[in-house]
Amino acid sequence: MRDHDAQPVGGIARRLAHILTSRGIDLNAKVTDPVEPIPALQAAQARIPARYRAAVADHPAVAAWVREVAQAGRPGPKGAPGLAEGRSLLIVGTTGTGKTYQAYGAVRSLLIAGVRLRWKATTAADLYAELRPRPGHDGERELMDLARCPLLIIDDLGAAKNSEWTEEITMRLINRRYNAMLPTLITTNLGMADLRAHIGDRVASRLTEMTDKVILDGPDRRRTLAAERRNTAAASA
Ligand SMILES: Nc1ncnc2c1ncn2[C@@H]1O[C@H](COP(=O)(O)OP(=O)(O)OP(=O)(O)O)[C@@H](O)[C@H]1O
Ligand SMILES: [Mg+2]
Repeated sequence: MRDHDAQPVGGIARRLAHILTSRGIDLNAKVTDPVEPIPALQAAQARIPARYRAAVADHPAVAAWVREVAQAGRPGPKGAPGLAEGRSLLIVGTTGTGKTYQAYGAVRSLLIAGVRLRWKATTAADLYAELRPRPGHDGERELMDLARCPLLIIDDLGAAKNSEWTEEITMRLINRRYNAMLPTLITTNLGMADLRAHIGDRVASRLTEMTDKVILDGPDRRRTLAAERRNTAAASA
C-alpha cells in the first residue's frame, strides 16, 4: 500500500501513539529540532526554501494540528507512521505575519515527529503557471499528482491574478483533496469574503468545511527584523 492511501483513524491512532511513546517520543511535547539527524528531514531540507529551513510550527494551533496528524498516522512497514486522512489548515494573515514559516514549520515538525511523509509545496501563482496548457507538457498529470499528494502546501491562495481557468483548476484540485480528505496547508492574505470572490463560492465552501482556520496577527515580521538589525547596528556603531 502506498503512503498516500487514506486510512481511518481510531485504533490505528492508539497503536501509533503506543509505538511513538514506546520510542520515547512525547506526542504532547513541543516539537523542536532533534539532536540525532533524521534522514527523512535531511532529505526534505533540500526541498525547503533556505529561508524556512529552520522553521518550527510554534503557533499553538499549527502545533496542535501537527500533533493530531502525527497521532492519526498509520504505522508503516518499518513502524514509522504514514499520513492518514485528516483535517486541513487555512493560515490567514496580512503580509509578513509568518504564514509560509508556519506551513514549512508544520512539514518539518511532522518529519521530526517521525511521520513518514510525501509532500509537495507550491504557491498558487506557480501552480497556475506550471499547469497552463503548453505543448509537450502534461498539465493534467501534474494536477492529479498534486491532487493525490498526501500533504500539499498551497501558499498565497488568492494572490495570483484570477480567471475562469484559475477558478476551474483551483476547484478541481481542492475538490479532489476535499473528497479524499487529504491534509492541505493553505495560506492566504485574504479574509474569507475576498477569498470567496477570488476563488469562487464552491471552493470557499469546501475550504470552510475541510480546514481549521488559523489567524496570524501582529506586525510584519520582516519590518520588525529589519528594525532590530538597524538598532543593533546603531548600538554597536
Ligand atoms: N514564528 C517565527 N519565528 C521566527 N521567525 C519567523 C516566524 N514567523 C515568521 N518568521 C520570519 O518572518 C519573516 C516573514 O515570514 P513569512 O515569509 O512566513 O511571512 P508571510 O506571512 O508568509 O508573508 P507574505 O504574506 O508576504 O507571504 C521570514 O523571515 C520568517 O522567517
Ligand atoms: Mg508567505
